[in-house]
Amino acid sequence: MIQTVLAIETSCDDTSVAVVADGGWVRSVVSANQDLAHSPFGGIVPEIAGRNHSVNTLPLVDQALKSANHVWDQIDGIVVTNRPGLIGSLIVGLVTAKSLAQVRGLPLIGVNHLEGHIMAPLLKDPNYQPPNDFDFPFLALVVSGGHTTIYLASSFGKYEVLGGTRDDAAGEAFDKFAKALGLGWPGGVKVDQLSKGGNSKAFDFPRGMIKEDNFDMSFSGLKASGMRLIGSLNAAEVAEKMSDLCASYQEAIVEVLLAKLEKAVQKTGIRHAVITGGVSANSRLRERAEQWSVQKKVQLVVPPLRYCTDNAAMVGFAGLLRLQNGERSELSLGPAPSSLAGDFQGMDL
Ligand code: KG4
Ligand code: ZN
Repeated sequence: MIQTVLAIETSCDDTSVAVVADGGWVRSVVSANQDLAHSPFGGIVPEIAGRNHSVNTLPLVDQALKSANHVWDQIDGIVVTNRPGLIGSLIVGLVTAKSLAQVRGLPLIGVNHLEGHIMAPLLKDPNYQPPNDFDFPFLALVVSGGHTTIYLASSFGKYEVLGGTRDDAAGEAFDKFAKALGLGWPGGVKVDQLSKGGNSKAFDFPRGMIKEDNFDMSFSGLKASGMRLIGSLNAAEVAEKMSDLCASYQEAIVEVLLAKLEKAVQKTGIRHAVITGGVSANSRLRERAEQWSVQKKVQLVVPPLRYCTDNAAMVGFAGLLRLQNGERSELSLGPAPSSLAGDFQGMDL
């Protein structure tokens, strides 16, 4: 029986390694953030990401085992994110995972990063556990720098894409706006902080596709409108209106996300939902989602920040369940930039 796995996540810019045990118990999760390396370029530079992963991954493997107080004999399998993501980044995690699996004689399983995000709210540690009665089926709003999608998770491994952004991810919309305001990259968290005390009605930003009777969203119109507005103001005006600009822009994103999640609840009748991905760290999204869930009697689980942003624990749990179901990947497993046919139903590949 596979009880404990070591998981490696290198799909984008964060390197993360975790030890995860049966039931989703996180024994350790250690990560190396690369923000400082990419921020001078205002976005992720794939080659730099890959090079940093190759420096970070093995030391993090040692650290994850140490901080879990585990030795190799206590590890029953190796999990790795092999899709979707930046190819140069995925390769580093894959090569490491395959070598470890071979050297240690352990089974290997490649996992879809997005399945990790969907499973993140079900992780457990001494300081976090989802409610006892929370289970499938649930709706999952995965909202990050690269993805903004609503899934219907009917059971483990069975996920249907209900809808999502037709253009930019919500995190990207946050980051581009922050960059135009001179707040650096990634700027979502800065927009969040500067929104505090701002008037969210000061500027009327578009809410793309909010009225359409589907689960799709669009953030490119919002982004363009934000750029236009910033371009029409001088530096002193931007500084003076900073809080109002951030609060109004943030409100537009939060409203679209919650309106579509609400539509998913109405259409499916499922009253259990999770919100995960880096943007679920947003304090206004958390606040309004919480109010919404109470009003609409939806059981909502938003995991703590450490499981919202990219991390290997979420991937480890998905991989552990797959290994326990008897699934195995070949050592020829390759990386893929996108999800694969069969990963999600209703997916537009
Ligand atoms: O999931 P994640 O760590 O990485 C991927 O994109 O997969 O998400 C990163 C995104 C970035 O766009 C970042 O600006 C955004 O999450 N983000 C936030 C906040 N914290 C992180 N956006 C809005 N408010 C925040 N507090
Ligand atoms: Zn992610």
